[in-house]
Amino acid sequence: MESIKKEFESLINNVEDYEQLKQLKAKFLGRNGSVTNLFKKMSALNNQEKKEYGKKINELKNYIEDVIDEKYLDIKEKIRNKALESESVDITLPGRRKQFGAIHPITKTIMEIENIFSSLGFDVEYGPEIEQDMYNFEMLNIPKEHPARDMQDTFYIDDNTLLRTHTSPTQVRVMKHKKPPVMFISPGKVYRRDSDITHSTMFHQIEGLLIDKNIHFSDLKGVLSEFLQIFFGDVAVRFRPSYFPFTEPSAEVDIECIMCKGKGCRVCSHTGFLEVLGCGMVHPNVIKNVGYEDKWNGFAFGLGVERFAMLKYGIDNIRMFFENDMRFLDEFSYDAGRVL
Ligand code: DAH
Repeated sequence: MESIKKEFESLINNVEDYEQLKQLKAKFLGRNGSVTNLFKKMSALNNQEKKEYGKKINELKNYIEDVIDEKYLDIKEKIRNKALESESVDITLPGRRKQFGAIHPITKTIMEIENIFSSLGFDVEYGPEIEQDMYNFEMLNIPKEHPARDMQDTFYIDDNTLLRTHTSPTQVRVMKHKKPPVMFISPGKVYRRDSDITHSTMFHQIEGLLIDKNIHFSDLKGVLSEFLQIFFGDVAVRFRPSYFPFTEPSAEVDIECIMCKGKGCRVCSHTGFLEVLGCGMVHPNVIKNVGYEDKWNGFAFGLGVERFAMLKYGIDNIRMFFENDMRFLDEFSYDAGRVL
C-alpha cells in the first residue's frame, strides 16, 4: 500500500489535463487498477485480517479519490483562467451598433397614401401581376390594334397573357364581382419595357376608383386636391385636359413644383409645375363592359408611387429604390440620424 501511494503521488504531480487524470484514475481505481486488485486479494484472509486490511485499503482509496477530485478542480480552474486571459475585453473600445431594419421607402409611401385614402373612406383591393389582355386592355376600352396600346410598351407572355402595364385592370376585376357603389384604391407592381433614370421596367402604381350615382368632375377634383395637399403639404394643384381610353373626360394633375415653389427650376423643366397623376370620369364603355347599369358613374385615377416618393423625399434617380444600397435604405430607418 505504501508503494502504491508513493507511485500515485509521484504520478499525480505530472497530470496536466482531464485525459491524463482519467488515465491515472483508471490505473489505480479502475477495474484492473492497483487499489482494486488489493481488494481482490482479501478473499485469502481471515475475518479479523479482512477487517483491518479492508479498512486500510478503503483509507487509501478515499485518499486517492480526494486527491483526484482536487486535481480535477485544479485543472478546471486553470482552463478557466486561460480562457479569461485570452478573452479579455478592452472596455475602452466603442460599442458596435445594431443595424435596425426599416420599411422600404416605396412601401412607406404606399402606406402613407393608403392611410390618407382610408381616412376618406376608400377600401384597399389587390389584383394579379400576371394579367389577361382582356382585363389589362380590352375591358378598359382599349381594343386590340387600338393605337392607345402604344402608350404602354408591354411584356407579353402569350397572345392573351401579359405582365400588367398598369393597376387599372383591378378596376374591372373589382367591378365584375362587387355590386355598386364601390370606392377603393389598389396598390401594386406594374411592368413596362421602359428604362432610364426616371423609368424602371418594374414600378408601383396606385389605382383609385369611385362609382356611385350622380358623381361629378368636381367630386374628382375635391378628392384628389385634398389627397395631394395632405401628402405634399399645402401646394397648388392644377387639372389639365388629357386623354385616357378608359375615362372621358380625362385629365392630368400637376402640383406646384415642391423644389422651387412654382418659380421654375431644373426638376420642373422651368414650368413651375410637376405632373403627378392621371384621372378622369370612368368611360361609359367601361361601366357597360363590367355589366353595371348606366345610372352608375364615377371617377378613376392612377399614380406612380416611385414618382411620389422621389418628389417627397428629393430622390433624383429611380434606380436608388431597387439597388439595395444600405446607405440609401438607412436614410429611411427608424433611427436615422438618431444617436442611441
Ligand atoms: N393607367 C394609367 C397609366 O398607367 C393611369 C391612369 C390614368 C389610371 C387615368 C386611371 C385614370 O385610373 O383614370 O398610365
